[in-house]
Amino acid sequence: MSESPEKSCLILAIESSCDETAASIVRDGCEVLCNVVASQHELHEKFGGVVPEIASRAHIEKILPTFDQTFEQANVSIDQIDAIAVGNQPGLIGSLLVGVSAAKTLAWALDKPLIGVDHVKAHLYAAALDDKQVEYPAIGLVVSGGHTSLYQVDSPTKMKRLGKTIDDAVGEAYDKVAAILEIGFPGGPLVDKKAQVGNPKATRFPRTLLDKESLDFSFSGLKTAVLYHVRGIPKGRRGNMVFERSASDLSEQDVADVCASFQAAVSDVVVKKIKRAYEAMKSAGNSPKSLIIGGGVSANSKLRQSAIELGEKLSLEVRLPKMAYCLDNAAMIGGLAYHQFLANQFDDLSLPAIATTSIA
Ligand code: KG4
Ligand code: ZN
Repeated sequence: MSESPEKSCLILAIESSCDETAASIVRDGCEVLCNVVASQHELHEKFGGVVPEIASRAHIEKILPTFDQTFEQANVSIDQIDAIAVGNQPGLIGSLLVGVSAAKTLAWALDKPLIGVDHVKAHLYAAALDDKQVEYPAIGLVVSGGHTSLYQVDSPTKMKRLGKTIDDAVGEAYDKVAAILEIGFPGGPLVDKKAQVGNPKATRFPRTLLDKESLDFSFSGLKTAVLYHVRGIPKGRRGNMVFERSASDLSEQDVADVCASFQAAVSDVVVKKIKRAYEAMKSAGNSPKSLIIGGGVSANSKLRQSAIELGEKLSLEVRLPKMAYCLDNAAMIGGLAYHQFLANQFDDLSLPAIATTSIA
């Protein structure tokens, strides 16, 4: 008689840290049975950024329909689930609380284990979804609307931070540049699209690298350089500044050129910092085998292309998430939660929502 295959592990995962209400069911940390994301972009668009109160209210409205869709799409019944995972940090507290409360309620009512997952670690896991596992040690780069950091990643759950932004996150800089150019929100995908027809050499924007060996980032100078380039040097005091011109004075081609030139500056800085992280890990005796990128900006076409080119030069296996797993999603939470499940890292019903990441 043939042996019955080992029972697989199905995890229901929930993500609500910012402005996407998401749920997913993932088998054995890799196979994504469904990935439902209810976006709230249209609610925040007119404010040019995420409004925390509006976000938490929308999560409450969207979370139950999101669950219904998830079970329907995965064709799985709730009693087949082995554990409930939730992104419980970092994020907007009001938003996180909705997902965390829903996860606790399900875990308690169904008597299933509860697993709290760090959202930033989950972004670094996203590239392993629907794919083979990553080879470690790896250089990890998280580039999103709230985070821009480099990590030494030793396993899906173990990593240490090597550097972080000292001001704006790279996604935030993208969103602000889109606001300066008045092209819409969220700005990243729009800037990326316009950059396709722009000249990356049209304007040489500053590349801020900080100290010689620094692995930290700074994007606020670049953002200000774009502002002054588009609108001229302002006169007057802060809060009452008058600019020489407005974004509407630019032609379509000018806008595309600014987008491409900005994107080239961001990419140069990121590539340089990855190289520095590579050298730092190598000289500490931890030669990296892979480069993992995660977070919303990992969807950026220029960054993806530059990362692949850099990987070839440094002989690093480059692991980029599929497009569906770049932006906030619950599949990455469910994938990483499986490794916590295997390591018996469970939480009880006192699991808190925490604004900051757990990675030191
Ligand atoms: O990971 P994410 O969904 O949310 C956070 O955890 O912050 O990232 C959202 C960020 C936004 O700032 C958005 O503008 C940016 O990712 N983004 C992009 C692209 N797609 C999304 N930035 C540059 N190029 C893109 N194609
Ligand atoms: Zn995120």
